[in-house]
Amino acid sequence: MTICQISDIHCGSPYFISDLLERSILEINELDPEAVVVSGDLTNAGYRQEFETAAEYIRRFDCQNVMVIPGNHDSRNVGYIHFERLFGDRYSCIEFEDAVMVGIDSSEPDLNDGRVGREHYDFIHDTFAKTEDKLKIFVIHHHLIPIPGTGRERNIIYDAGDVLELLADTRVDLVLSGHKHVPYSWKLEDMFIVNAGTASTTRLRGNTRPCYNVIEIEDGRVRVFRKYPFKDRELIVDFDARTHEYRHYEEIQGDGRPGDRGQRRTIS
Ligand SMILES: [Fe+2]
Ligand SMILES: [Fe+2]
Repeated sequence: MTICQISDIHCGSPYFISDLLERSILEINELDPEAVVVSGDLTNAGYRQEFETAAEYIRRFDCQNVMVIPGNHDSRNVGYIHFERLFGDRYSCIEFEDAVMVGIDSSEPDLNDGRVGREHYDFIHDTFAKTEDKLKIFVIHHHLIPIPGTGRERNIIYDAGDVLELLADTRVDLVLSGHKHVPYSWKLEDMFIVNAGTASTTRLRGNTRPCYNVIEIEDGRVRVFRKYPFKDRELIVDFDARTHEYRHYEEIQGDGRPGDRGQRRTIS
């Protein structure tokens, strides 16, 4: 099973590059994924025309299961009205034979900061708890844990500690996030927290490049690749959700040298 995660496409931004998004859609459709996740910041400022443009692109994913959640930019200027009209509920769940995926809205109107909110904990808990044997994937726009190379940290949600505990208690395997356009991954407890970069803008920090994530799941084994539109892909995370064996490949941001958690691998 393949899931593609694309994030922070930012239609309407002066930094939006349509070629990158067109190419990403083409590449993703070629993979014929079971699901596509669009993890927020579809727009620049939540305006109607930006949402219409984003929806036109997202409709081109040739996939039955497209999960779209809003980001902080989408909740600017009452943008969530357009979001709901075009994409439906801001909280959603997709269940597959071997996996369950829960997506939530962590944005707050006109704020860059985010939260999940206690009122949503039961939905998250109950959805994951009733699918005990499946791979559990949680999708949220904001960070749950600080990401290096994003400047002075102020981007984790207000209730990050409570949400992390909730996810660990319900044995979530994989968290997919976006927000600050810095691709990265952390392992916490038995959970991998994978942050996507921006797929289609040059709103980039440091030496990061536009990219999206490809997640391959087979018999409980999960492999996460970072894919650069037009270019190569790299294996980032490789773990077995049943045995919790894992290999973690990541580069420490900014200095270009391999981190001490493993060598970077390029797979074309
Ligand atoms: Fe963003
Ligand atoms: Fe964001």
